[in-house]
Amino acid sequence: METIILDTGDLAPAVEALKAGQLVAFPTETVYGLGADGTNAAACRRIFEAKGRPQDNPLILHVLDKPALMALTLGPLPAAAAALVEAFWPGPLTVVVRANPDIPGAVRAGLDTVAVRSPSHPAARDLIAGLGRPIAAPSANLSGRPSPTDAGAVWEDMAGRIPYIVDGGSTHVGLESTVVDCTTTPPTLLRPGGIGLDMVASVVGEVAQASGHGPVRAPGMKYRHYAPEAPVIWLDRIDPEAVQPALAELARDYPKLAVIAPEPLPQAVLGGRQRSLGQDAVTAAHRLFQAIRQLDQLKPDGIVIVWESEDGLGLAVKNRIEKAATTRVRL
Ligand code: TXA
Ligand code: MG
Repeated sequence: METIILDTGDLAPAVEALKAGQLVAFPTETVYGLGADGTNAAACRRIFEAKGRPQDNPLILHVLDKPALMALTLGPLPAAAAALVEAFWPGPLTVVVRANPDIPGAVRAGLDTVAVRSPSHPAARDLIAGLGRPIAAPSANLSGRPSPTDAGAVWEDMAGRIPYIVDGGSTHVGLESTVVDCTTTPPTLLRPGGIGLDMVASVVGEVAQASGHGPVRAPGMKYRHYAPEAPVIWLDRIDPEAVQPALAELARDYPKLAVIAPEPLPQAVLGGRQRSLGQDAVTAAHRLFQAIRQLDQLKPDGIVIVWESEDGLGLAVKNRIEKAATTRVRL
């Protein structure tokens, strides 16, 4: 299949493709999504094929507003969902609610709940409005790879698999939405993301954290994720006195080591195989996935990521590094 890149000013072919049950990759404020008509079961199944996504991992439905969410919800909207939507929509916040049974089983992966969010990116909103229905969309990467934050990264993974990629440049947030299960009391954080846990808590009060034990609540969180070809080694503190000797030791085991770290970058990294995460969590969120993809193209034999913070978006950054990592070095 030939893949065509579209400008955000020329969305008509993408809307027609969605109406015809085909897949379109498009920018959101978080990461690029791989969209299908969320009411068309066959189209939604194509998403799983194109990504190589496990069948038991449900999709997020993208809508314009709260009335559209209510139409997808079985029964009344939980108070926590209403409050979160009021505070953060449109934006990087996904709510999980009881699902209207009309929603295709492929979207829900057979669950009786559904995840819904309203993106703020104008191109995403134009596509939803043009289709006139919810768009089902996971991140537009091959399953297990880092989420794409620009059209080039989508191209790497999806060229030849889908008819259209809408190019909206580099995404604003850089990692995925925060997912909050509003079917529990208190609501449960299933995935940290573009809206910090402190912000969520300021709206709904208490928030439970999905534990690593018991049944997996956000099915997607159980797989290794965001992973490049090279093994990823997470150094879990940023203190240079701990990082420098650990890096020196790793550099002996991995002669072509690459490093991703907050500024200032640690010394002793060779051959330009290094990327900066900047000085704060917002910048790090914006840069992380692109840094992983760029360094992987240099074919390193290992990628070290140095990260410690859990403040604000730091929790989401840490979560993604944890998922990508094959090894954690506790410093
Ligand atoms: O920012 C984002 O959320 C991006 C953009 C494209 O909107 N989308 C995204 O989708 O990250 P995806 O499929 O990569 O991640 C969706 C997450 C997965 O962890 C999935 O298991 C969880 O949401 N999820 C979806 N439906 C769910 C449900 N009914 N109950 C619990 N978790 C659900
Ligand atoms: Mg994903």
